[in-house]
Amino acid sequence: MQVAPSILSADFGKLNEEIKAICEGGCDLVHVDVMDGHFVPNMTIGPVVVNPVAKVATKPLDIHLMVEDNTFFVDLFAPCKPKYISFHIESEKHPHRLIQKIRGLGIKPAIVLNPHTPPETIEYLLEDLDMVLLMSVNPGFGGQKFISSVVEKATKLKALINKRNPNCLIEVDGGVNDKNIHELKNAGVDVVVAGSYVFGNNDYSKAIKSLQV
Ligand code: DX5
Ligand code: ZN
Repeated sequence: MQVAPSILSADFGKLNEEIKAICEGGCDLVHVDVMDGHFVPNMTIGPVVVNPVAKVATKPLDIHLMVEDNTFFVDLFAPCKPKYISFHIESEKHPHRLIQKIRGLGIKPAIVLNPHTPPETIEYLLEDLDMVLLMSVNPGFGGQKFISSVVEKATKLKALINKRNPNCLIEVDGGVNDKNIHELKNAGVDVVVAGSYVFGNNDYSKAIKSLQV
């Protein structure tokens, strides 16, 4: 299991140290939550903050867009050279076109599904995707309770992935901890995002390793 700590739960007063600590602590990706105050009822950070984060991070960035105007934000964050950019299917009229655009920028495209969105919605996009991110909380905030129906959803998605594109990864985001990590692993999940669990632990390295099952 790969682990992507969400910097939403980091101490922004000492962000450089926090980024160094999770990278030295053995994380696989650095998860960056971008919120526009329209698609979700919260706002976070833009390239003014993410560019310096990208310089300090020794692990690749995983940018999760929670925005209405996906194309605008893809162009804004492409210079940060993330490994992945994921966008919500619920906010995009032309997901297939946007996937091609992201790939054309040399970035791996991923799509995010909110808790209510069935995996079948994206069946015909799977062959063009590197990853699908399943939300296990309602997007907008860290520290929320894990919505356990995501486990069944991951199992269904895994079957579709096996049929359409076995190289596509499954990522789960929200409320992940050392209690639910094993059921996620058993359901075929490849990557987990963990914000409050990692940054709420005194020992980031220990917390990260407890999820790398
Ligand atoms: C929520 C974000 C998550 C969040 C995860 O909208 O997408 O990445 O920061 O935080 P925890 O792990 O605390 O649920
Ligand atoms: Zn996220």
